Amino acid sequence: MKKTLVLKVNPLQPEAEKIRLAAVFIRNGGLVAFPTETVYGLGANALDAKAVLRLFKAKKRPLDNPPIIHVSRIKDVYRLTKEVSPIAKRLMEKFWPGPLTLILKRSELVPEVTVTGLDTIAIRMPKHNVALALIEESGCPIAAPSANLAGKPSPTSAQHVLTDLRGRIDAILDAGSTVVGVESTVLDVTIDPPEILRPGGTSYETLQTFGRISLNPVVTADKPLLLEKTRSPGLKHKHYAPKADVVVVEGTLLPKVVVKVNELVQFHRMRGDRVGVLCTNETEHEYQADMVKSLGSRNDLASVARNLFGLLRDFDAEKVDVIIAEAVPTQGLGLAVMNRLKKASGYKIVNVDAA
Ligand code: TXA
Ligand code: MG
Repeated sequence: MKKTLVLKVNPLQPEAEKIRLAAVFIRNGGLVAFPTETVYGLGANALDAKAVLRLFKAKKRPLDNPPIIHVSRIKDVYRLTKEVSPIAKRLMEKFWPGPLTLILKRSELVPEVTVTGLDTIAIRMPKHNVALALIEESGCPIAAPSANLAGKPSPTSAQHVLTDLRGRIDAILDAGSTVVGVESTVLDVTIDPPEILRPGGTSYETLQTFGRISLNPVVTADKPLLLEKTRSPGLKHKHYAPKADVVVVEGTLLPKVVVKVNELVQFHRMRGDRVGVLCTNETEHEYQADMVKSLGSRNDLASVARNLFGLLRDFDAEKVDVIIAEAVPTQGLGLAVMNRLKKASGYKIVNVDAA
């Protein structure tokens, strides 16, 4: 156990002395959690193999799941990569800083461990003044997976990070809750057309305004699909799971979904389980369970995304055994929300249309 230094910092105008303190840890091979616009990341110097190994260890992350590398300027991408296609360049110019991660061919400068032996690298420029200031002050690209223990829901507040990692990391820059709430979209630009490997904070619709973009089948899968190892290494691992079991109920008619959720609540309560319902403002009043939580309005999928991981953690804090979760529409950020929910459920999905 080490002492984790908690540095409260202004999200818009981070205090220079706190950023300097955090950057000293990074430069010395240490681990610092910091906010981005999506979720909190756990940072280490991406060019320091030992520091990156510490990062995997602190998170208990499998060594075959590479982190995302964070940069503060587009020009930093060029020394980390072999080739930047015109499409990749246009995407960076249009969507950075922002919740879009690009998969590119990596250069020899990047240590093997940072990319877990792959010949590609995931890079993004976060849209958060604290993250950008930390990268600038550290003077190196920062490898940062989400700052949770592997398999747990990603952290959207400093408290979430401390619950998982206090005593395992050197410091955290606490700038309050994150805005987007789900992680960045991972887009493979080594192929044409570019392909979304993980839906996230930059929606499919938004990317399509840019040009032709394809969706990898894993994005919408209702069961675990095995991608070739090199394409999307993280996808085979357990993800986003609270301690409670999660069951997702989906269907085209909302009233039928509500009936099924209530049926499942009854079923699990009869077995003596403590049952939670994860729903939306429109349906919240329809449920009775040990704990009923609304993600927000179905008409505001950005707030649904913002609330998702925090609510999954709240159910754990309340020691709920089973969470019955209503599906939400897959437009906009809803696609990322449903992808995370289905993974969190281990693909326990009930479709009421089939019945
Ligand atoms: O919003 C985010 O992306 C957050 C914040 C902290 O920036 N970071 C994040 O990192 O979610 P992480 O490590 O939890 O997720 C990285 C994802 C994983 O699914 C991983 O498999 C994928 O990116 N990835 C990393 N390198 C890759 C590569 N070379 N090819 C394909 N996928 C890659
Ligand atoms: Mg993660």
